[in-house]
Amino acid sequence: MVDIVELVSEVVPLKKAGANYKGLCPFHNEKTPSFVVSPQKQIFNCFGCGAKGDVIEFVKRYYSLSFPEAIEKLAKDNGIQIENPDSRSQGRKDELYEINRIAARFFYDSISKGENPGYSYLLKRGIEPATIKKFGIGYKDGQWDSLIKHFEEKGIKKEKLLEAGLVTLSKEKYFDKFRDRVMFPIINTGGKVVGFGGRVVDKGEPKYLNSPETPVFYKKNQIYGLNITRTDVGKAGFIILVEGYMDVIALYQKGIKNVGASLGTALTENQAKLIRRYVNEAVLSYDQDTAGIMAAVRGLPVLYKEGLKAKALILPEGKDPDDFIREKGKENFMELLKEAMPYPLYMLSIIEKDSDLTSLEGRLDFLKKAADFLRGLSEIEREGYLTGLSQKTGIAEGAIRREMEEGAEKTGLKPSILVKQERLQDIKDRSISSLEKTFIRLLITREDYLSKVMPYEEVFESYMGISIYEKIKEHITLEKVIDIKKLTDSFDEDQLMVVNDIRDNIVVAGREAQVLEECILTFEAERKSKREKAILEILDLLQESFDEDEDRSEREKALMEELMSIQKERSRRGGI
Ligand code: UTP
Ligand code: MN
Repeated sequence: MVDIVELVSEVVPLKKAGANYKGLCPFHNEKTPSFVVSPQKQIFNCFGCGAKGDVIEFVKRYYSLSFPEAIEKLAKDNGIQIENPDSRSQGRKDELYEINRIAARFFYDSISKGENPGYSYLLKRGIEPATIKKFGIGYKDGQWDSLIKHFEEKGIKKEKLLEAGLVTLSKEKYFDKFRDRVMFPIINTGGKVVGFGGRVVDKGEPKYLNSPETPVFYKKNQIYGLNITRTDVGKAGFIILVEGYMDVIALYQKGIKNVGASLGTALTENQAKLIRRYVNEAVLSYDQDTAGIMAAVRGLPVLYKEGLKAKALILPEGKDPDDFIREKGKENFMELLKEAMPYPLYMLSIIEKDSDLTSLEGRLDFLKKAADFLRGLSEIEREGYLTGLSQKTGIAEGAIRREMEEGAEKTGLKPSILVKQERLQDIKDRSISSLEKTFIRLLITREDYLSKVMPYEEVFESYMGISIYEKIKEHITLEKVIDIKKLTDSFDEDQLMVVNDIRDNIVVAGREAQVLEECILTFEAERKSKREKAILEILDLLQESFDEDEDRSEREKALMEELMSIQKERSRRGGI
């Protein structure tokens, strides 16, 4: 068997220390060695970051391989032949990696030889040739079969390209999937090309076309750019997570190299785990639009749960990191980075924005929401925020503590953004309420439903619902009428699946007005019942407030009255 000291010392300088060997841990950033390798036990153990395991575990982590890949590497490096049941699927994967590699080479060769739209486009966006080379960015010409032909010359069949997601099959004909696009190869930390993102040159839909999931490409496991940036990430001690390809590339080019992108999706547990291999801190730098804020609100707890220190960097509204660094430069970005907000503070600031701190009721409402959030944190962290909360709200610390400890199910008071996030925690990204679906059904029926639905847009609470609604809204605002082809093109795969399902399964033809009315009634009823819960909780908390002079009894009376009118109306409607 392979000796662990021998294996590790190929990549980590080790010094003898008693019975063991010591060195700088390759899995986190450190200046004094806390990485110990034991020849007797044949294990490694890092007292700094907690990484530990045997030879296989080391190979897995160091070379970012799966278990079977690690075994295979060990065998190969040591001249051992292995035959295992997985070797056939491994062979198939190797074939796909090879196809992707050849394709990446083809795209890169096209962009680097002379004039072409992809190259001009990148230059126009300020991307330098050295950066193009570093990230292996390429260009796929506008032809329908240049890639197919290129592979045919090499004796590789179309069917294989289909499996790799590089061609599409339509009416029994094969076509190059990517045409006239700047091609970003997505390369895993093992150095293998697993897929591509293709950006239209200038304008067009969809803006980015990505490889479909294949046996070697699971979007949810990849962090774009990490193959290049992981050493810088390790050195910096944290990763800056952005949304897009261009954000990674622009920051990198300006010298901020500890970056990676989650590729438009909300951050997944696997992505967080991947990051955790290299660092224990991540700074999210997403767009400041609704979708970006929601992605941050969803992503931060995912990082937090994997044991990462999570922060949010706030960019000026309407800017993504690429825009920002191009306009303001590295120094200004570094300034923002210094002010990145720790996860709890960021969440509290979002909750605060959602509340009105000028009224007593608003402050109580804020407090309930804040307590609800803080309940999910560790006790030590929680305690740190108590005094501030007490000062902001005028409620005694003891009362706040009690509130936090109660831990009841009190959704009525949460800001919509937190409710959304919670709903999504255990559910798949595609979850969306039937009320949201019906509203979307109406919206895609005729453009004039937009103005009718807009007053009730609060109904969109799920990530999917909001993102689809925003796309439709943007489309109608821009085009004035619904162009179903264009609209469909603007959806990503997940959104399209949901919209198709809505279109096929919700029938409104001829009954649109009636359906709209029913939806509004349901929405109003839901809103009332939430308000009812909220009032009950506020009344409860009012007892604990030390704000005497603000005429509490007046507020209590008003709330009681509102409560009674909600309850009365409900019984009038027959208890629904
Ligand atoms: P953005 O729409 O924010 O684009 O999408 P961007 O990164 O700023 O792109 P540029 O600057 O206009 O070129 C962010 C990320 O979401 C994914 C891509 O990964 C993109 O980089 N995305 C976006 C898609 O997969 N498909 C799309 O149609 C749009
Ligand atoms: Mn951009």
